[in-house]
Amino acid sequence: MENKKIIIAIDGYSSSGKSTMARRLASEIGYRYIDSGAMYRAVTLYAMRNGLITPDGTVDKEHLVNALKNIAIDFKVDDGKQLTTLNGEVVESEIRSMDVSNLVSIIAAIPEVRHDLVAKQQALGNSKGIVMDGRDIGTTVFPDAEMKIFVDASPETRAIRRYRELTEKGQSTTFEEVLANVVKRDHLDRTREESPLKCADDAIKIDNSNMTPDEQNKLLMDIFRKITC
Ligand code: CDP
Repeated sequence: MENKKIIIAIDGYSSSGKSTMARRLASEIGYRYIDSGAMYRAVTLYAMRNGLITPDGTVDKEHLVNALKNIAIDFKVDDGKQLTTLNGEVVESEIRSMDVSNLVSIIAAIPEVRHDLVAKQQALGNSKGIVMDGRDIGTTVFPDAEMKIFVDASPETRAIRRYRELTEKGQSTTFEEVLANVVKRDHLDRTREESPLKCADDAIKIDNSNMTPDEQNKLLMDIFRKITC
């Protein structure tokens, strides 16, 4: 008999390896994976392209909120890779740029943006069988998720991971710039008024500073089996 499908929420700090963890778990158990951060990144890219946020982070909130109804974000799978689309255009690499990373937490702090994206995320989880990663998945989006994980690692460990990822993709940046971005986003995400980043009371905490991807995957699989069997 097939096990009942559940919702898995994986939250944590920026560049903590949540996405790698969530993507691999979803693929092993045959669930859909949703990267909620990609949705905030896509809205940020839309705002940048349409002059609704300046490089120093000043937002034309009224026009951005009005434009939300015109922003369609989706995911498509190509060659086994999940790609984020913005109004039909694949924007996967653009949304990972440092320019977007530098502004995304400002956009993500706007309550109307959060309400819009949280509603979309909840709709994606309607039929369960989903792994979603982000900042507020276990607290706000799916407070009743059957499995909740909160991932952390030191800022330096996280910045090294992100720096390697970006340079491997050919993006030019420095370790110092990435570390400063990680620390700044942690602060903005933790201190915003609307659904700030915090560990849900019933989440299992994992510090993966010294874990290999295989070790963290095994840990998640063990937790998943315990919950579903
Ligand atoms: O990849 P990384 O972990 O650095 O970040 P991300 O998951 O791509 O999320 C980018 C930004 O979106 C975060 O720094 C948050 O400001 C925001 N975010 C959020 O507020 N709520 C979520 N559920 C997911 C992301």
